[in-house]
Amino acid sequence: MKIKYVIGAVVLLLLILQLFPSNTSNPPVTAALKANPEVMKILKQSCYDCHSNETYWPWYSRVAPISYFVSNHVEDGRKHLNFSDWEKFDSDKKGKLSKKIIEEIEEGNMPLSSYKLLHPVADLSDSDIKMLKVWFGGKQ
Ligand code: HEC
Repeated sequence: MKIKYVIGAVVLLLLILQLFPSNTSNPPVTAALKANPEVMKILKQSCYDCHSNETYWPWYSRVAPISYFVSNHVEDGRKHLNFSDWEKFDSDKKGKLSKKIIEEIEEGNMPLSSYKLLHPVADLSDSDIKMLKVWFGGKQ
C-alpha cells in the first residue's frame, strides 16, 4: 500500500522540521508599560502574547511548522509595538502608538483573528475597548 509510504514521509518530514526550532525566547523586560490594573489586565489578556517580552508559549507554539507562524507573529508584533519597552519611548512615539492602538481596536483588527480563534478570552468587549480608549486617548 502506497499510503503507508506517504504517511511515513510526512511523519519523517515533521520530525526533521523539529530540528529547526524557531525563536521562542522572551527577552528581558526593561521598561514595562505602567497603567492602571484594569488596563493592564486587558492588555495582558489580549495583547501581551504578541506585543511584549512576556509571551506565553504553549506547547503547540513550539512544534514546527506551527512554531514558524506563531514566532513570526510575535516577532512582527514586538517590532511594531512592544509594551515591555513602552516607558523608554519619548512622548512623541507614545502618542503615535496610542493613536494606532485606538485605530486598531476600533476597527477590530487587534487582536489578530487567528489568535482570537484559539484564545476566545482575548476578544475585546465593548467595555474593554472603552477602557483602552480612555487610557490611550488621554494619558500617555
Ligand atoms: C497574535 C498576535 C497579536 C496579538 C494578540 C495582538 N497583535 Fe497587534 N499586531 C500583531 C502583528 C503581527 C502586527 C504587525 C502587522 C500588522 O499590522 O498586522 C500588529 C500590529 C499592531 C499595531 C500597529 C502598530 C504599528 O506601528 O502600525 C497595533 C497598534 C497593535 N498591533 C495593537 C494591538 C493591541 C492593542 C492588541 C490587543 C488588544 C494586539 N495588537 C494584539 C500581532 C498581534
